Amino acid sequence: MTIDNLKIPTVALGTWAWGDSGETGDGYFGSPLTRAGLEEAADKAHTAGFTLWDTAVVYGMGRSETVLGEVLKRYARSDYQLSTKFTPQAAGAGDDPVAEMLEQSLARLGTDYIDLYWIHNPADVARWTPSLIPLLRSGKVKHVGVSNHNLSEIKLADQILGEAGFRVEAIQNHYSLLYRGSEDAGILDYCRNRGIPFFAYMVLEQGALSGRYNPENPLPEGTKRAQAYNGMLLQLKALTDKLASIGQSQGAAAPDVAIAWAIAKGTTPIIGVTKPNYIDGLVRAASIRLSSNHIAELEALADAAGVNTRGWWEKQM
Ligand SMILES: NC(=O)c1ccc[n+]([C@@H]2O[C@H](COP(=O)([O-])OP(=O)(O)OC[C@H]3O[C@@H](n4cnc5c(N)ncnc54)[C@H](OP(=O)(O)O)[C@@H]3O)[C@@H](O)[C@H]2O)c1
Repeated sequence: MTIDNLKIPTVALGTWAWGDSGETGDGYFGSPLTRAGLEEAADKAHTAGFTLWDTAVVYGMGRSETVLGEVLKRYARSDYQLSTKFTPQAAGAGDDPVAEMLEQSLARLGTDYIDLYWIHNPADVARWTPSLIPLLRSGKVKHVGVSNHNLSEIKLADQILGEAGFRVEAIQNHYSLLYRGSEDAGILDYCRNRGIPFFAYMVLEQGALSGRYNPENPLPEGTKRAQAYNGMLLQLKALTDKLASIGQSQGAAAPDVAIAWAIAKGTTPIIGVTKPNYIDGLVRAASIRLSSNHIAELEALADAAGVNTRGWWEKQM
């Protein structure tokens, strides 16, 4: 799929956890990251053709953008695409908080344009959406999208941009086997009917669907993701076991199948990459073909788990 001159890859790469990077950071994920490991992951990703990187100002309050900018210095700017966000809750008090936040992102990322710029959440659609228009006109932002917006908020943003000759070009929402609010609310259909790419975030539920974690080996204690998911790992076992068994029959692993499910549903998963070997999983995921039976079985087990993984920042779709 393409939006004008932006080619949408099968899988995009997420860097929220990179905000924790190294010895410092906010400890949201607690994944041990090293610069060498992230560079190796980036090299593997680029070799495999995954070159769209998603970040945001608020991931480690600038740290994810800074680390990403440093890691990507090894490539020509035209060899990768950057996706970052304006977060209304972090807006400054200046005349144009969106333009100001963008300038800070550009400086941290070491670039003079962003391929895909998002309004991070619908805090005030009528207030913030118009600020994207001059950024599009100046070329500092090539394409725009909205994240965490419900259908009526998406339509309002599209109308505001439409009056200036632009449009909402992409949607980015939480979408996983365990959290299908955007599908139930008709947002996936809306995107499909208009040829708008839908970027699915937290497809692996921050690792809880990777099959690596279980009640005996929980997510790293003391982290925000442990708080969110450790209490439900037992309920997820039947689902992660099924992901693993479907994977086994195709030479793949549980997370690859969870990612393949999101691809099969017509979305572009944004997968948080913290280790070089996770890129191999993305390559496998892109080639897995799931039958409609497999999809139905996985969704039934996900529903049977009876968990609610809505993030604290999300509203009901
Ligand atoms: N717009 C928004 O509001 C919003 C919100 C959330 C996320 N996002 C974006 O979406 C991206 C993805 O979300 P996320 O990073 O929060 O969670 P995620 O992609 O659901 O999960 C990422 C975690 O899963 C594990 N993992 C990844 N690939 C794996 C593999 N192949 N095998 C086994 N484990 C694997 C890693 O855990 P370990 O490190 O423990 O191994 C990693 O930290 C973010 O990085 C961000 O760019 C956007």
